[in-house]
Amino acid sequence: MERTLVLVKPDAMQRGLAGEIISRLERRGLKIVAMKMIQMDAALAKRHYAIHRGKPFFEKLVAYITSAPIIAAVFEGPRAVDVARKTMGETDPAGAAAGTIRGDLSVEIGRNLVHGSDSPENAEEEIELFFSPQEVISYEREIDRWIIES
Ligand code: RTP
Ligand code: MG
Repeated sequence: MERTLVLVKPDAMQRGLAGEIISRLERRGLKIVAMKMIQMDAALAKRHYAIHRGKPFFEKLVAYITSAPIIAAVFEGPRAVDVARKTMGETDPAGAAAGTIRGDLSVEIGRNLVHGSDSPENAEEEIELFFSPQEVISYEREIDRWIIES
């Protein structure tokens, strides 16, 4: 089953939207298999966002993501990477559809509330940055057969 890393970013935590964001992903049908609150340091931020190193927004991105505590979580489900990103909406909230987390709750790209991995391969690497194997817990839910056909 596919897994994706979700970060409830500092702006979402400060605005009291953590429950709302986690709830939307949970109600979609994705299963929480790991979760913790941390404050990222610059070293972790630079590793997590290594692909953006050198871009004009990189330093501001590192400052933003390290500015307050976040919740890191792993969600699991069929096509979890795409399902989570569709639930979040486009990166720039101005273009994000209504009904998505970013489209309903945010207005600017530098305060877009949430992170979701962009491929299953990157998800595996990102999950390893935030969680030890023991912290990611596989378990069955009775309701899963009403969410997943087989
Ligand atoms: P994320 O990684 O946070 O899930 O977002 P994403 O894949 O939709 O977007 P990505 O291109 O990976 O960008 C990562 C984060 O960097 C910030 N950003 N700012 N000012 C800008 O032009 C700009 N571009 C990107 C956003 O916080 C974005 O989520
Ligand atoms: Mg990204």
